[in-house]
Amino acid sequence: MCGIIGYTGKRDAVPIIIEGLKRLEYRGYDSAGIAVYADEAFGVAKRKGRIAELEAELAKVNISGNVGIGHTRWATHGEPNDVNSHPHLGEKSRIAVVHNGIIENYKQIKDTLEQKGIKFVSQTDSEVIAQLCEHYYDGDLMDAVIKVANALEGSYALGIMCLDEPDILMAIKKDNPLIVGISDDGNFIASDVPAILPHTKQVHYMNDKEIAILRADGVDFFNMQKEPIVRKPETITWTMEGAEKGGYPHFMLKEIMEQPRVLKETIANTLMDGANKTAIDSLDISHFNKVIITACGSACYAGVVGKYVFERLCRISVEVEFASEFRYKDPIVDDKTLVIVVSQSGETADTIGAMREAKKRGATTFAIVNVIGSAIAREADYTAYTAAGPEIAVASTKAFSAQLVLLYILAIRFAQKLGTIDDAKTAELIAEINNLPEKATEVLDHTDYIQKYAAGSINSKSVFFIGRNIDYAISFEGSLKLKEISYIHSEAYAGGELKHGTIALIEEGVLVVAIACCPNLYGKIFSNVEQVISRGARVLFVSTEDTKQTDKLSLVKLPQVHELFSPSLSVIALQLFSYYVAANKGLDIDKPRNLAKSVTVE
Ligand code: M6R
Repeated sequence: MCGIIGYTGKRDAVPIIIEGLKRLEYRGYDSAGIAVYADEAFGVAKRKGRIAELEAELAKVNISGNVGIGHTRWATHGEPNDVNSHPHLGEKSRIAVVHNGIIENYKQIKDTLEQKGIKFVSQTDSEVIAQLCEHYYDGDLMDAVIKVANALEGSYALGIMCLDEPDILMAIKKDNPLIVGISDDGNFIASDVPAILPHTKQVHYMNDKEIAILRADGVDFFNMQKEPIVRKPETITWTMEGAEKGGYPHFMLKEIMEQPRVLKETIANTLMDGANKTAIDSLDISHFNKVIITACGSACYAGVVGKYVFERLCRISVEVEFASEFRYKDPIVDDKTLVIVVSQSGETADTIGAMREAKKRGATTFAIVNVIGSAIAREADYTAYTAAGPEIAVASTKAFSAQLVLLYILAIRFAQKLGTIDDAKTAELIAEINNLPEKATEVLDHTDYIQKYAAGSINSKSVFFIGRNIDYAISFEGSLKLKEISYIHSEAYAGGELKHGTIALIEEGVLVVAIACCPNLYGKIFSNVEQVISRGARVLFVSTEDTKQTDKLSLVKLPQVHELFSPSLSVIALQLFSYYVAANKGLDIDKPRNLAKSVTVE
């Protein structure tokens, strides 16, 4: 939520920041702004709307400078407009700040400063940071920033500039991500790697309450006592191709198409020697009497599928909880509980909160994360990485698929250790896993039918996703995908549960997407399909079995696959369906309304 970037170096900061903001736009896209040192004053441009609006403004005002900060906003306090956009300046315009996060005590700080006669111009919580910093500034920016950090409650990643110290850019963070990139050509701060990937692969992941002082020719780190910290940069393995559309109309379609490769790499990274295998092997699963999977959104729905696989293979009871619920429900967790947290970004505020709550209560935490160096990756007791690479579209696709396959392997390895499956079964299941990338390719090779069906579904008012057992588990993700990018109401429902109430909503023309990949439940879900068809519904049947198509029943036939791993194939069909519905509606697929990629607020 919100993206920040900063640059100091020999080049003009403006194009570097604008380019970086475009790569961060997935984090928020209500408004954007930039500030650079330009002679004796800040050159500032801010605009409501997308980065393109800011670019148009910059074409008029023509600012440039070698040091600058930029911001793309997802509004929390104050509507998206030019004034509420970042950067925010102190009253005397000597301090400029970009902020990602939420300042919980901003009201108290604002009241105190207003009593001292300081005038505020915006409705944001972020403006208090600039005002307070300017108020504290007494010739040493680091002193002022430390005082500000001590006064703030909440979360923040900050880029700060001061007119009196024009050769530096300062950064500090707490509970929100911030990286520092270094290169011969200059140095950077950013919320995420893609923003600076064209310039450098050498980055520092900042820790909470560390201060970075960036100059054109180097970066120094300090703690809150102003003592220097010695750090070594890490080398990023992500490539530029991963962060580009590569000829596809949308990142989402590109990321859907990348899934066979992502599956292959995640499987290889997890089965072969390396960090993932070490994490899995070193965890003694026999120590635990309970497993909880906690996460948000799609990551949580990967957990719902994981529950079915774990329970079937490990014979251990698994609970799945939305992180936002888990953290405040006084959860029953102790040192015999394994808490698995799943997150693409590794920075989702609720998931971090849930993980910390679990740790506080004595649980062991195992994280499945995509972003290396993210808060969750660093704080969990054990971490395994999905190999999805940068996922730019707000709607998760390839990261979700990588989470699924990692959860399958985790379940197989734990079952093996617990002795609930024998070697022959293990070998059979691993062989099935190894075949998934090829089968995913088969699904992706036949998209025409789904595309056509989706084109005929754009006027649906409400869509029901039904399934039984693991097919029910994956229907949640199918439903979420459709909602978030096509704005069509949808619900995931257990096939057998429809008749207990929800079937009242079925009438002529309603679309039901039925998932049927469990051979022993095929007859049962088919009965549910007949029940809805006889009440006027039309059905898109996503199945590993053949069936006769009628004017009311259309089939998406999937390759044969072990039912436990079938969500990896059915979800691709569901992603494509949602994608093509949204594409046919002409919607902004990669940046759906009201959403942001990384939800760093509660
Ligand atoms: O980065 P995370 O995996 O922790 O994000 C969790 C959710 O915010 C995320 O999955 C969200 O639901 C996506 N928009 C789903 O497509």
